[in-house]
Amino acid sequence: MAQEDVFKKIVSHCKEYGFVFPSSEIYDGLAAVYDYGQNGVELKNNIKQYWWQSMVLLHSNIVGLDAAIFMHPTTWKASGHVDAFNDPLIDNRDSKKRYRADVLIEDQIAKYEEKIQKEVAKARKRFGDSFDEEKYMETSERVKEAREKRDALHARYAEAMQGPDLEALKQIIVDEEIVDPISGTKNWTDVRQFNLMFATEMGASADGAMKVYLRPETAQGIFVNYLNVQKTGRMKLPFGIAQIGKAFRNEIVARQFVFRMREFEQMEMQFFCQPGTEMKWFEYWKHVRRAWHEALGMGTENYRFHDHEKLAHYANAATDIEFKMPFGFKEVEGIHSRTDFDLSQHEKFSGKSIKYFDPEKNESYVPYDVETSIGVDRMFLSVLCHSYCEEQLENGETRVVLKLPEALAPVKCAVFPLDKKDGLPELAEQIVDELKFHFNTHYGDPKDSIGKRYRRQDAVGTPFCVTVDHETPKDGKVTLRHRDTMEQERVDISRLRSIIEDRVSITSVLKKLGDEIKKYE
Ligand code: GAP
Repeated sequence: MAQEDVFKKIVSHCKEYGFVFPSSEIYDGLAAVYDYGQNGVELKNNIKQYWWQSMVLLHSNIVGLDAAIFMHPTTWKASGHVDAFNDPLIDNRDSKKRYRADVLIEDQIAKYEEKIQKEVAKARKRFGDSFDEEKYMETSERVKEAREKRDALHARYAEAMQGPDLEALKQIIVDEEIVDPISGTKNWTDVRQFNLMFATEMGASADGAMKVYLRPETAQGIFVNYLNVQKTGRMKLPFGIAQIGKAFRNEIVARQFVFRMREFEQMEMQFFCQPGTEMKWFEYWKHVRRAWHEALGMGTENYRFHDHEKLAHYANAATDIEFKMPFGFKEVEGIHSRTDFDLSQHEKFSGKSIKYFDPEKNESYVPYDVETSIGVDRMFLSVLCHSYCEEQLENGETRVVLKLPEALAPVKCAVFPLDKKDGLPELAEQIVDELKFHFNTHYGDPKDSIGKRYRRQDAVGTPFCVTVDHETPKDGKVTLRHRDTMEQERVDISRLRSIIEDRVSITSVLKKLGDEIKKYE
């Protein structure tokens, strides 16, 4: 199946099984805004819990924070967002649609790349086993031509984005004869800068109202609280502040479901350290964050680092952790060494000293900061994309199963009475009543066949199903079915909790991660 089709199936599965709904769908939805349903919210909460505990439980020098979404507007002057948090936009006069100029050009670069790949695929088919891809890439005139065009365009684009030079971006769109995918015309406006922050007004009276922004990142809430936390918590460097919360960006091009949204959630941690030690901590967090992802067991081969060559003016190192989505390797998390830029800017704009007195060095300085920043929604999407499977069964049926990491699954265990008679429902309810205090356990009504009930739990990724049958009242045993293998075993009711809890608890993943972290300390 083409990856595009797989992605479409994942999106419709999310809706059908209560993971993600378009926002205010009864009014036809709101572009790039989504609601999480009954299963989605559980999965999302488990991701957040895993992240939170990995920060504040596994690191004695990291504490939490929950700052407000609204912040004093000077925050965003100081951080640079008012002046520089822009995307270059362009409108097509015929379709009246708005595009990101950089995305249009990147799509054009991707078209050259696609052309190269198509030529290679055709040649591979033609030459069979004797095909030498490297040699073909060097000798085929068509491939050579496409590669030259791609490389020239890439170089021109990279230069235009420095600054950025808006006229140069427009000229590229004109020279490459890029057409609007909707109208098919080249009737473009000039390229303009578009600030991504949402603004609103605070205050009751029209003349006294203050323009405030919905925060475009949670990080600034941490920076402006640095002193509060450091002083009240008597924190000594190095130490970190972790926060989970909503962020808002008026994205021009919102694509790929919950990958790029206008309202999303971030999990960010700022690690403050002594100047000069930041590269050590940058390397540390690079490894620890990758280990966090890998401890979930979604395949080490599905992750890669993308080190930034061109750094933001305030950063001295930056990398992304990318995950293999059906639409290619994509950024899920960013790790940035932000120097003392943010704290110094807030010191300058607020006029308040944000220095740390180092008792060992007997001097005061503005700490340096290493940031780890991951989008909850992108993490959610990566987990779903990796877990979605369509399996052909021996009886010819297809089962759709979400092979979610067990610790993240919305429901951990479903308990089914085989039928309505002989007190089986009451016995099943008793088991639910016992297990529900330890993990999310559901009762499955016997109105559907057992096969149907298993399929429904597979589709939402429930790792364990327990069936109470006519033997259970006699021998105290139930059938325990494993989601991934579909294997069934007879076990004592008294053993259910320990068997399941061991596998589904976030603690077990944290322990694995804790062992990895020790290697870097
Ligand atoms: N404080 C740094 C910061 O915000 P970023 O690279 O702009 O850095 C960090 O964002 C993470 O937030 C990204 O790696 C991504 O996971 C998530 N993110 C950013 N924009 C997003 C959007 N429009 N929709 C969903 N997630 C987004």
